[in-house]
Amino acid sequence: MDRIRIVGGNHLEGRIPISGAKNAALPLMIASLLTDDTLTLENVPHLADVEQLIRILGNHGVDYSVNGRRERQHEGYSRTINFTARQIVDTTAPYELVSKMRASFWVIGPLLARMGEARVSLPGGCAIGTRPVDLFIDGLQALGADIDVDNGYVIAKAKTNNRLQGNRYVFPKVSVGATHVLMMAASLARGETVLENAAREPEVVNLAECLIAMGAKIYGAGTSTITIQGVEALSGARHQVIPDRIETGTYAMAVAMAGGDVVLEGGRIDLLENALNVLGQTGTEITSVENGIRVRRNGVGIDPVDVVTEPFPGFPTDLQAQFMGLMTMAKGKSKITETIFENRFMHVQELARLGARITLAGQTAIVDGVTKLKGAPVMATDLRASVSLVIAGLAAEGETVVNRVYHLDRGFERLEEKLSGCGAIIERISS
Ligand code: UD1
Repeated sequence: MDRIRIVGGNHLEGRIPISGAKNAALPLMIASLLTDDTLTLENVPHLADVEQLIRILGNHGVDYSVNGRRERQHEGYSRTINFTARQIVDTTAPYELVSKMRASFWVIGPLLARMGEARVSLPGGCAIGTRPVDLFIDGLQALGADIDVDNGYVIAKAKTNNRLQGNRYVFPKVSVGATHVLMMAASLARGETVLENAAREPEVVNLAECLIAMGAKIYGAGTSTITIQGVEALSGARHQVIPDRIETGTYAMAVAMAGGDVVLEGGRIDLLENALNVLGQTGTEITSVENGIRVRRNGVGIDPVDVVTEPFPGFPTDLQAQFMGLMTMAKGKSKITETIFENRFMHVQELARLGARITLAGQTAIVDGVTKLKGAPVMATDLRASVSLVIAGLAAEGETVVNRVYHLDRGFERLEEKLSGCGAIIERISS
């Protein structure tokens, strides 16, 4: 299993190209199931999760082709990929495939909308809480699906003439995935659907814009009420994946932690205003530059700031671990409260191995900043937690080795290359 070795202490100077967003690319790829035409997606990041979803979609009959291997955009390796689901050959998404990645459960929406039936294994993914699928089931039932859960599979059938029926559905809790799925399903349903308390994440907007380009009638994406007027069929389209706001925030925090001056090329401030404001309060300078964001911290200490994770536009849960990494070396105490997932503090014990002082009180971590971290072997536990260990390692004295980096490969394109390009001592040790 590969490991990442970091020798801390170097400032970061230079430019880091931001890749296409994993969390936007995955639902966009799944949207290709909605049409027999070709959906061309630009700026698709080269990540393990994307490759895995290509395999899952292939099982349903989606062909894909890559235009010019490793097409360069912002000097990243994100690619343009054509997806064509001429025919759906299988409406079952089996356990062996779905258990590897939670987002693959989302195929349930398009399969059900296009074929009138779907049989999808209950999902896997990062172990950051129970992550049930009740909202998907309730929401699809509201759109006229009959649903059974049997033997670890969710079996869904459209009740009337193989077609879903528009309806009003109020999410009892904000869910990004359930919003994606209901928006896709409602696009091909008969009549109007109104989704209330919908997720407002930029990835939802990115998906809505793609569906609109495919002929869907969707209004209000990016607000908490989304209205969808179902159409008979959708066509192909060409659409661009937005830059990864979590990757952007992660590197911004890496610069804040290690010190230095870096331009995040292609990063968009509007996609993560809240997190960048918080970083500003820590004493990090954030400025908008042409085609990117400049992040600087030179010589000044890190001020402690309290954060509470919230759905967009609040502070993202996907940056919580990284921010905790930064706070471990702040000049005082900070409180970090996780409200989205109930088990997202697995990085705490690993950060402690580097000398961090963190105590947990329920869903809140109290971080008492230390003046020095010391390198140690640590274990990556989930995608975002692992990168918080990398951030801490960049500032720790001596050598940090992060084990189980396959978690990082799921969501960060060329991480070691991007950081070493800015002067960090970081390398992958393959075994
Ligand atoms: C997506 C992101 C993930 C991010 C999360 C929250 C992708 C591929 N993943 O995950 O990186 O951390 O949004 O911003 O885009 N819930 C239920 N019942 C359901 C569905 C969700 O209770 O049926 C709960 C979850 O357990 C969680 C909360 O709702 O506590 C939010 O989860 P959700 O927004 O659905 O996360 P994902 O879409 O899985």
